[in-house]
Amino acid sequence: MTERGPERSEGPHQPDDNARDDPNLGEIVVSEEQLKERIAALGRQITEDYAGRAPLLVGVLKGAFVFMSDLARAIDLPVEFDFMAVSSYGSATKTSGVVRIVKDLDLDLAGRHVLLVEDIVDSGLTLSYLRKNLKARNPASLEVCALLVRKGRQKRSPTLKYVGFSIPPEFVIGYGLDVDERYRNLPFVCTWGGSVP
Ligand code: IMP
Ligand code: MG
Repeated sequence: MTERGPERSEGPHQPDDNARDDPNLGEIVVSEEQLKERIAALGRQITEDYAGRAPLLVGVLKGAFVFMSDLARAIDLPVEFDFMAVSSYGSATKTSGVVRIVKDLDLDLAGRHVLLVEDIVDSGLTLSYLRKNLKARNPASLEVCALLVRKGRQKRSPTLKYVGFSIPPEFVIGYGLDVDERYRNLPFVCTWGGSVP
């Protein structure tokens, strides 16, 4: 485990921070410390809400894998996992509005308490599609936990039971979120300061 000093956990990106020495990194939108605190709180809430049940966390690849990993460890219940991959963006930073299942789930959802874990809700198109699709598989319950919601962008308003942060309408990277498959391993969320691919 790498521990960074407290002086580096908050504030804007420092250009001389080794792994972050990248001119494409913009302002920090959600710091490592904020992520830690909020995810611990979400974990406590989910633990309370699902007491006596074993929720099945369904992660939307690839963006949600970092968040789901930390969230799952903040939940004090017998949790199970499954993943699906959808494609709505390709490698661009604008939504195509088209959602395609690239990898389906391995498990049967019938009778399960399913918690869909998403990285970011932008237009909401991906989520409304997924909700409908998963609902049709007859889970006992279906809720959504999204780390980020971009304010004022939703064309559909899917019900979000758990939300980490509402963020301004800028493209962001880090903590699972990518541009052309890069930057997913940044331990914080920051704006994309490069040109739009
Ligand atoms: P929606 O269908 O427009 O809500 O888009 C949701 C999906 O688009 C997310 O699951 C992400 O994979 C991707 N996405 C949306 N906004 C961003 C962003 O700011 N950075 C990286 N990926 C994003
Ligand atoms: Mg993506």
